[in-house]
Amino acid sequence: MGEGVQPGEHLTGWPGHVWLEGRTIVHMQEEQERPTHMPRGPAKRTGPGFLNPAMAPARTRSVMLLADALEHDWLVKDGRPIRALDALCATGVRIRRWRNEIPGPLQQRLRITANDLDEFALGWAARSHELHPPSTPVQHEAEDDRHGQKSSAVFDNGLHFQRLDARMAMVDAAYQWVDLDPFGSPIQFLDAALQSLSRTGVLEVTATDTAALTGSSASSQARRYQAKGIVDEYAHDDAVRLLLATVATTAARLDKVVTPLLALFDGHHVRISLLVKTSKSEATAIGKSIGWRVRTEGAPYQFVQHPTPEQLPKASGPLWIGPMWHKDIAGRMTEDMI
Ligand SMILES: C[S@@+](CC[C@H](N)C(=O)[O-])C[C@H]1O[C@@H](n2cnc3c(N)ncnc32)[C@H](O)[C@@H]1O
Repeated sequence: MGEGVQPGEHLTGWPGHVWLEGRTIVHMQEEQERPTHMPRGPAKRTGPGFLNPAMAPARTRSVMLLADALEHDWLVKDGRPIRALDALCATGVRIRRWRNEIPGPLQQRLRITANDLDEFALGWAARSHELHPPSTPVQHEAEDDRHGQKSSAVFDNGLHFQRLDARMAMVDAAYQWVDLDPFGSPIQFLDAALQSLSRTGVLEVTATDTAALTGSSASSQARRYQAKGIVDEYAHDDAVRLLLATVATTAARLDKVVTPLLALFDGHHVRISLLVKTSKSEATAIGKSIGWRVRTEGAPYQFVQHPTPEQLPKASGPLWIGPMWHKDIAGRMTEDMI
């Protein structure tokens, strides 16, 4: 196990309910209700170590996307390893699913770090990993860190657990894949996550502050996202586009450009996955992909770069107005992959 993280000899409530998510056995705490076969919507949060079954489809897409990156070499070339960080891993279901469900031959190229501040959740994750190890055993050395120093990370059967503030974890090392799945808004973690990424990397972000993103809480939206919403039939799509625009502009400040791979509103959260590259010139041009949605007479809406004073009352933005999905990559992600 990683430094300071033990499988937890005396984990209160262990083993809880046993549940199968994807092809991975997970343990849910006793006080959590057993989910239905297709859990939807906001599940009640029950404290440290809570596993939200409604996020299972988002975790499945993450498994498929990472598998696609490894298989089709669009993130790193020549069979080189991918260093992936789940910065807020809680009970470690996503990272355990990466290890269990990505095809065996690709596993040796994955270096997975699981981070969370919550000791109980990490103990639960480590115990689950120990009891249900990945079907393909994985042993490898840690990569050198971003300063060229030998990393002291210890990988136990393919997973390195660590207990740090996520921002410290991301400042500390460079990754090609960072997952941010906080409670509520991801804003406080975005800057560190983007700085943690290598010159080319993937950032996956969950946001559950949908009242702010849709504009149903106008003050939170203005404060957190500097945007103005309209709560109508486009509000969910606007929420996704607002999060994309927020990551894109934060990235541009760091000379990075984003390309959305997958982006959707799913029940009670927004989830976006982006390819992030360092490129000053492309980052400068990002403004072309940011604009406003104007509701118009005779047509449902149009995207404009800047609304006129007359259009403003019927406009929401600024939002991402470019493509939200990567045609080739998303096109390969079918049910057959799982
Ligand atoms: C929504 S949960 C993560 C769920 C998890 N990704 C999953 O799929 O089950 C958010 C997690 O963030 C952790 N957390 C909150 N603030 C943190 C911080 N500053 N640094 C590290 N972890 C933090 C919490 O302990 C909690 O486990």
